[in-house]
Amino acid sequence: MTLSTIGLDGYPSARTVLLSRFDGQRLHFHTDTRSRKAAELAAVPRATMTIVWPEAARQLVVTGDVTPVTGREARLAYSARTRYLQVLAWVNDADLAGATADVRRQRWAAFAAERGDGPLEPPATWGGFALTPLRMLFWQGATDGPSNRLAYERDADGTWRWESWPG
Ligand SMILES: Cc1cc2nc3c(=O)[nH]c(=O)nc-3n(C[C@H](O)[C@H](O)[C@H](O)COP(=O)(O)O)c2cc1C
Repeated sequence: MTLSTIGLDGYPSARTVLLSRFDGQRLHFHTDTRSRKAAELAAVPRATMTIVWPEAARQLVVTGDVTPVTGREARLAYSARTRYLQVLAWVNDADLAGATADVRRQRWAAFAAERGDGPLEPPATWGGFALTPLRMLFWQGATDGPSNRLAYERDADGTWRWESWPG
């Protein structure tokens, strides 16, 4: 999905992340706690998530408030990541970013050699966030007619109002 935050300079800030989990209330994603997005969310804990299913002509745009997940939730999400993504969370740091591709591969290989195939714990820099929806826009496209949207907004008392919007 595309995760949009508010940049520290006030401009939008967007990037692709994996939607790790929907727990029935909140949408979770995980990242490096040293990342730009983590700093932006610390400053303004609000975000929009855009998820598109082009083949189904569907789009979902969710805006809401973001809070860090618990350490337990973050560890569970880490254990569900592929080995590649688990290693990436350890190895992908700012120091290595400017190194040559060869140096980056060597560091990757050195980490694999040192740690073997055993289970990995998340690094201290692994973290997660969960977004509680305030607005949800369900877009539905069509090849034989106009697209449209169902726009949901949560009131202060927790009830959802919705209306139809043009696509
Ligand atoms: C398909 C795809 C999935 C990605 N998933 C994640 C993710 O789940 N978490 C993450 O931190 N970065 C993920 N990234 C990398 C981010 O797009 C981004 O480059 C990185 O998190 C740094 O973003 P920031 O500087 O805005 O914090 C993914 C990139 C792609 C293309």
